[in-house]
Amino acid sequence: MYEKRAPYQVHIETFGCQMNEYDTELVRALLKARGFTFTDDRERADVVLMNTCAIREHAHNKVYGHLADLKTLKRQRNLVVGVLGCMAQNLKQDLIDHESIVDVLVGPDSYRRLPDLIVQAIESQEKGPTRKGLAVDLSEYETYEDILPERAEGINAWIAVMRGCDNFCTFCVVPYTRGRERSRDPQGIVRETQHVASQGYKQVTLLGQNVNSYRYDGWDFSRLITAVAEVPGIERVRFTSPHPKDFPPSLLDAVAGHPKICKHIHLPLQAGNDRILQLMNRTYTRNEYLALVEKIRRRSSDITLTTDLICGFSTESEEEFLDTYEIVREVGYHAAFIFKYSERKHTIAARKYLDDVPDKIKADRVTRLVDLQKGTSLKKNRGMVGRTVQVLVEGDAKKSSAQWMGRSDGNITVVWEKGGSTVRPGDLVGVRITDASVTTLFGKELASR
Ligand code: SAH
Ligand code: SF4
Ligand code: F3S
Repeated sequence: MYEKRAPYQVHIETFGCQMNEYDTELVRALLKARGFTFTDDRERADVVLMNTCAIREHAHNKVYGHLADLKTLKRQRNLVVGVLGCMAQNLKQDLIDHESIVDVLVGPDSYRRLPDLIVQAIESQEKGPTRKGLAVDLSEYETYEDILPERAEGINAWIAVMRGCDNFCTFCVVPYTRGRERSRDPQGIVRETQHVASQGYKQVTLLGQNVNSYRYDGWDFSRLITAVAEVPGIERVRFTSPHPKDFPPSLLDAVAGHPKICKHIHLPLQAGNDRILQLMNRTYTRNEYLALVEKIRRRSSDITLTTDLICGFSTESEEEFLDTYEIVREVGYHAAFIFKYSERKHTIAARKYLDDVPDKIKADRVTRLVDLQKGTSLKKNRGMVGRTVQVLVEGDAKKSSAQWMGRSDGNITVVWEKGGSTVRPGDLVGVRITDASVTTLFGKELASR
């Protein structure tokens, strides 16, 4: 039997959003339970898995690039290649047919079948041509709630509280790759939080494609996040990604009022023009969105706001783009993710609308918004100079191991010299801000009391 053999080594690469990172941790748990081991080195792996994203063309292209590399490796030795995640779900058989590199293809609701399909591929490969395995059924129920993820080390634990999306924004592939919305039992989520706290994680990030639409037996998201924040040992709770349609006063109270719930709301706007918002099926108008921003700011001026924006959606005119530009200036986000519209197979927009804004114009609009946002981010960060922020230490700064890196409650990256510092990752420490760039605050650690 396969299990009696030397353990096969699996290498997993993850693309896309935090939900995919979490799913990779689920997959690791499922594979570990079947005796697989893991390697960071693709060259030494018996199995290479790519957990993919389908959100934009660029994400697809990255994966095709990796597949081309794997083709070379496959010529040299036995190797099982698997594609997981949203691109697997979206392209299905097309990917299996792609130059016959892919042996196993498994979508986000079918990971329980992955170990068997890998074993089947390995065993058949040793005897002759590989038996390809495909599992791309979407489920209305699968939440993997009985599986404890094999988490990455660090201070943060992801916990998916709901999966799927029923919003059908016309540009978005997620409802097709992740299926219908479903929420997990809150008791299980609280138990998992207690477990990660006992393992030493200091921060929990609640995940869902529409995290604030969470609903389970009379529990809504406000109640859930408050229960999670009450778990002893957890210092901070974050959540992503919420939709502007589900912000009851109770959720604003939780974010503004609970000391452990971080004062950061990611509030995807996408566009600032009503005709485009309607075409996107975002279900709010410009004014409704602005009213929500106003409500949030009135509740607490300390809440950091960030957003997502799409430039050059079907038929977007220059004037309509300027509506987006204006609202971005007016709101003054702390940061924004700004994308060119990328038409995705199967979406409503791909079926009903023309992708008629030339690429050059999309790119130009992105540049203008990025420039605007950089100015705002710099101004906001400079405004922090002189203030002291509480930072949760994450580890060495990217640029130098002589510096610490952590995040403020509002999710802004903070970097400071270690000097004689005795703090450790996972500690909360006061840092007095002395300088700022577009993305980072720099400061001096205050002596702990
Ligand atoms: N559920 C989240 C979004 C997940 S996708 C939400 O509703 O906020 C993350 C971001 O990718 C979206 O907010 C959107 O700005 C962007 N995006 C999604 N589909 C896209 C497409 N077809 N082209 C360009 N950007 C897209
Ligand atoms: Fe996509 Fe809209 Fe669902 Fe977000 S809310 S995942 S953008 S369909
Ligand atoms: Fe990408 Fe799927 Fe996440 S399309 S953004 S990996 S939900």
